[in-house]
Amino acid sequence: MVTLLFSGDIMNKIILRGGRSLVGEVSVSGSKNAALPIIFACILTKGVSEIRNLPLIGDVKIALEILSSFGASVYFSQGVAYIDTSRLYYTEPRIDLVSKIRASTYLMGALVSRFGRCPILPFGGCNFSKRPIDMHVDACLALGGRLTDSGLSSDGLIGGEIRFNKKSVGATVNAILMAVCARGDSLICGGACEPHIDALIDFLISCGADIRRSGEDLYIRGAELHGGSITVIGDMIEAGSYITAGLITDGDVLVRNCPTADMGAIFDAFSDLGATLQITDDTVRARMGEKGRCASIIATPYPGFPTDLQPIFAPLMAALSGGKIIDTVWPSRFGYLEALSNFGIKYSLNENTAVIYPSEIKNGSAISPDLRGGMACIIAALRSYGESEISSLEIVQRGYENLVEKLCALGADIDYQSKGI
Ligand code: EPZ
Repeated sequence: MVTLLFSGDIMNKIILRGGRSLVGEVSVSGSKNAALPIIFACILTKGVSEIRNLPLIGDVKIALEILSSFGASVYFSQGVAYIDTSRLYYTEPRIDLVSKIRASTYLMGALVSRFGRCPILPFGGCNFSKRPIDMHVDACLALGGRLTDSGLSSDGLIGGEIRFNKKSVGATVNAILMAVCARGDSLICGGACEPHIDALIDFLISCGADIRRSGEDLYIRGAELHGGSITVIGDMIEAGSYITAGLITDGDVLVRNCPTADMGAIFDAFSDLGATLQITDDTVRARMGEKGRCASIIATPYPGFPTDLQPIFAPLMAALSGGKIIDTVWPSRFGYLEALSNFGIKYSLNENTAVIYPSEIKNGSAISPDLRGGMACIIAALRSYGESEISSLEIVQRGYENLVEKLCALGADIDYQSKGI
């Protein structure tokens, strides 16, 4: 049940009455982290691209606004997004938009590729850690780009070799965006292999790009790109979030449009905690088996357990028998635990390792610390009896489409107050 209270100039927030088991079916939306590189990749194309299953979440709306600020026209028809970039022009990027999302870093690859320049901008993104861009810049220099006080520039990128000594999703996206239209052949070694990287590659190939993957290496021959067509893959982090919401409330949730083939490490982690999962090609049904066990998760680059789900697992571990969380991707990504302590969750922290103790989760209130930390607070509130309040919900809505509607359809009892009209 969802009651829309007064809208006005309040921050988006929910009042959630927890302690109810979530039961029913939920469909995940298109993957945020696949949709965003695909949108920025349209800057490289001349023509109209068709994007199906685009999640209408905060970050995507901002990315579409950024493209429109360069003269792209964006329209929707029967739930499909069309992006026409035939009349694209260069202009100074809008800082008010760029500073809101991390994906605006993809402008470096796209603008240097198409227009030969991109200023170094105050890129946005969740502030759970420093977000350097040295690997993005190095990729540009490896293809003949230059870094000066006015930013990155090039008189025409030239195919070359890019070797990454650690995994970076964003730097891999930008390396691809710079190589795919460069003159000649490029080799990208040691790039990230997340499913959303291959989704970007599939889209670029539909635009006429010449890209071949061999293990972690990508062989790319520069080409002119026309409009393309893609269906955005399901969001495995959203799927893992709703599975967790079902398990922590001793519920019975079936998740549809689930990219189950990409979620092996996630399913192993749920099973280690005592969950029973019924898995098909695109659905998962999740229930708690025998009393949840104490388990450890180590967040690593794909195909390991994804860092974006470790905050979501913390309340589940606390509700069961505790556990240990190690994050090798973002060693300091534990700021959300302070917000979770408002719900009675006990933990200790040492460098990149958090120990979560079995806790009596109680109702509380929190301001969403970041996208996944905010979702973790909602999951804790679902477990606890009584009324909880989570504010700055718009931060969570950056990554979760129809968040309140989907939770209420599963039986959550939520009053939603949205900021402004
Ligand atoms: C992407 O961020 C995702 N965001 C993040 O998801 C995700 O946590 C992250 O990849 C890892 O999977 C989007 O896709 C929009 P990285 P990104 O470059 O690209 C270091 C969410 O919740 N690094 O893979 O910014 C960096 O410090 C968000 O959906 C450098 O040292 O992450 C980190 O330790 C949060 N130099 C590691 O690499 C660089 O130039 C991985 O970062 C770039 C990165």
